[in-house]
Amino acid sequence: MPFVLPELPYPKDAFGDTISVETFQYHHGKHHKAYVDKTNQLAPEAGLGDARLSAVIRQARAGGNQPLFNNAAQLWNHSFYWQCLSPEQQQPEGRLKALVDEGFGGHEALLAALEKEAVGHFASGWAWLVLDGGRLKVTSLHDADSPVAHEGMQPLLTVDVWEHAYYVDYRNDRAGHVKALLANAINWDFVAQNLDGNGVSRADQG
Ligand SMILES: [Fe+2]
Repeated sequence: MPFVLPELPYPKDAFGDTISVETFQYHHGKHHKAYVDKTNQLAPEAGLGDARLSAVIRQARAGGNQPLFNNAAQLWNHSFYWQCLSPEQQQPEGRLKALVDEGFGGHEALLAALEKEAVGHFASGWAWLVLDGGRLKVTSLHDADSPVAHEGMQPLLTVDVWEHAYYVDYRNDRAGHVKALLANAINWDFVAQNLDGNGVSRADQG
């Protein structure tokens, strides 16, 4: 069954100036959709027409099929990313708050670490908050690379630092975009859900 472009879990105008309607029209409607279409073209050619998305990503990596890996991983990364955003102001609570306090010394310090990673990542990629050996860790992965292809890296939260995530609203100002996103638009409830280790399944399909 072909992969589909997941619906956004909020209206395109829910984020005001932080993320504009036009950004969603391009980022979700054009960029993400292109990864869906290309994966649907390349996966059957690789004999993976019936595989789940996570399996396509892992097998493309194992088999050195870089075009399929790039498109399938970007399909999954974006499907996860939309769920990391919420127009409702939230803060980490409960077990997540405890892990944030233990690992970073507080919410503001975690935001600072995520901002530094996202802004400092050279060229295109994704900043990640992951669960690694029971502890929170901030890291980044380059281009289309994804936690799906890294055993033991359990995804909790991601920030897209490809230029296509911010060029409409922020031109070249990646730092401005990242600061606004982290301050106003993170779905900490979703991040907390992913502490169960099933984050990969929440953006999987097929
Ligand atoms: Fe993107």
